[in-house]
Amino acid sequence: MKTWDLTLQSLCKTFEGHFKVGAILSHNDFDDAELIAMYKHHYNAVTAENAMKPEYISKAPGVYYFDYADMIVDFAEKNDMMMVGHTLVWHAQSAKWLNRNEDDTVLTRAEAKTNLEAFIKEYAGRYSGRIHSWDVINEAFTDKNDEPYTGNWRDYLRRDTPNPKAVGHWYLAYENGADASKGESGADYVFDAFYFARKYDPKAILYFNEYNEEFNHKCVAITDMVNDINEQWRKHPEYDNRLLVEGIGMQSHHNHKDTKPEKIRAAFERFSKTGAVISITEMDLTFGSAENPAVPMSPEDAQTQKELYIELFKIYIEYSKYIERITFWGLNDRDSWRAWGSPLFFDIEDRAKDVFYEVIKLA
Ligand code: GLA
Repeated sequence: MKTWDLTLQSLCKTFEGHFKVGAILSHNDFDDAELIAMYKHHYNAVTAENAMKPEYISKAPGVYYFDYADMIVDFAEKNDMMMVGHTLVWHAQSAKWLNRNEDDTVLTRAEAKTNLEAFIKEYAGRYSGRIHSWDVINEAFTDKNDEPYTGNWRDYLRRDTPNPKAVGHWYLAYENGADASKGESGADYVFDAFYFARKYDPKAILYFNEYNEEFNHKCVAITDMVNDINEQWRKHPEYDNRLLVEGIGMQSHHNHKDTKPEKIRAAFERFSKTGAVISITEMDLTFGSAENPAVPMSPEDAQTQKELYIELFKIYIEYSKYIERITFWGLNDRDSWRAWGSPLFFDIEDRAKDVFYEVIKLA
């Protein structure tokens, strides 16, 4: 039996003046009035958990499905919440037609560009003026960290790799027909994606969103990419006196072993200097592992989780002038995609954990 306590202090009201507080939402959540009441109580920023991923929006050329996305965007609008469009360009959960042939070979650069524009026009264009910010590109970079940084962010973009789920088909298609003598490469899809997003939804803030974003080379590559794309935009004939990449999304899928607050702080230092705003876009913080679930949490783990969340929120508050929002990737430990790790502020029975009470004190 689900029981949300609506007498709790509201998360988003608590952090008003610092940043918005958001969470994910699915179309079937609308069937649960109590859950929706809780959502409105705690959150003022909305990200669709799945409904707005490319594969749910379009499975074939010219075929678009917007019903679930419409429900979520309407809800955000009606309740005066910040609506996040997640996501336009991603190597995962995206239909083949965008950048591949039926036999899995990649399209040519010209074909991929045509499809990229058609997709963004149809999708971002439909919601133009109603989306606060788009995650224009999600997870473009690899986790390559061993060698010294090459100095070129393009070297870290996903491309071919033995793991079929990790292949960067946008890169490969844009490479297929690129003229290196003109300086063209697979990396050009990055500029185009942001350019088309600006063109078809000019009011929205355009984000680049990434995981493990605080890790060494990725953190540097993201920063260099943002600066480079914005520099390219400044010289573009259609330059509109705005940055093209105006936001950096730190997914913040943390875990107690690898997450180091000083790295997060260093990432804020780097990212904030680009002039882009920052959001924590998919926050959770796991314990244990899928094989060794932290459910129920031991008192020691709960204590460590609380301390780590507190450290992170102290940093968020310190950098809050750069931060638009903190979004949690889940509503409770029961339904989280990483439920094995008890990663959120609310437990498997929707009760606020100690960490909730301690974190709100920081505001
Ligand atoms: C990534 C994506 C999200 C979501 C999570 C896992 O972080 O950006 O959309 O798929 O993985 O659920």
